[in-house]
Amino acid sequence: MEVLERAGELPGILDRLRAGGHRVGFVPTMGALHDGHASLIERAAEECDHVSVCVYVNPLQFGPGEDYATYPRDLAADLVVAEKAGADLVVAPEVEEMAPAEACTVVRVTELGEILEGRARPGHLDGVATVVTKLLCLAGRCRAYFGEKDFQQLVVVRRLVADLSLPVEVVGCPTVRAVDGVALSSRNAALSGEEREAAPVLYRALRAGAASIVAGERDPAEVVELIGAVVEAEPLVELDYAAVVDPETLASPETLAGALRLLVAARVGGTRLVDNLGVRG
Ligand code: PAJ
Repeated sequence: MEVLERAGELPGILDRLRAGGHRVGFVPTMGALHDGHASLIERAAEECDHVSVCVYVNPLQFGPGEDYATYPRDLAADLVVAEKAGADLVVAPEVEEMAPAEACTVVRVTELGEILEGRARPGHLDGVATVVTKLLCLAGRCRAYFGEKDFQQLVVVRRLVADLSLPVEVVGCPTVRAVDGVALSSRNAALSGEEREAAPVLYRALRAGAASIVAGERDPAEVVELIGAVVEAEPLVELDYAAVVDPETLASPETLAGALRLLVAARVGGTRLVDNLGVRG
């Protein structure tokens, strides 16, 4: 497995591979790789001839007071996970290259970037969109793998690829969970033992919401209230938002029919967790 420090080397390497007929897969991450990230790399390795993984903690997507400084960083461990999952190349660029002080161009996500996570974390999705656009430009024609775990991010990335005509096929991958249902996340490591025991309430609440829809509930407000009530029954967890949305547009449906996505965000101690679940009404 090749390891690069400069993202600027990617286009040359990947162009040569493409000229030789290789299908290129690309997996952007912020490192602290776990089985959720590994599932994206494994899927890319199944579907492509060459898989590049990016490990870069993107300062643009952290708000003031968020965990940029304390975000876990361990490149040596990440290289082991990436190689085992089938990566051919890992690029771990520096902030000086990806976001030089003189940079003055950003990608702003309008409506889709201002609701849900965008409302809770102003500027977050613009920061994601800016770095993802840059990374996808460096990767060039490829399949790019993103997790459903960050569902709004996946929708935003699909939208930006279409809006900016990038030659990229976005592949959404299912959420990998711990046995108790908690979605794997680098941020789970920040939970205390007690908080970790409380964390499965997010997935429980989503399943309760989905079950009510399957049982015939057609009023989105009732489902949102149910999800919120399940979360708030857990004293260590504070609900940020619950929502039922159209999985393509993230719009709030008037009535619950067809494909739907249930979303939840909550604080567990000082840690913010998000989760989501698909269901058909
Ligand atoms: P990060 O949180 O490291 O996640 C990298 C990719 O792994 C994302 O597409 C995310 O949705 C996916 N992922 C995380 N946990 C997962 C799980 N439990 N199951 C399946 N997939 C999972 O998301 C980011 O980094 C950044 O915003 C990034 C896109 C790299 C831009 O900086």
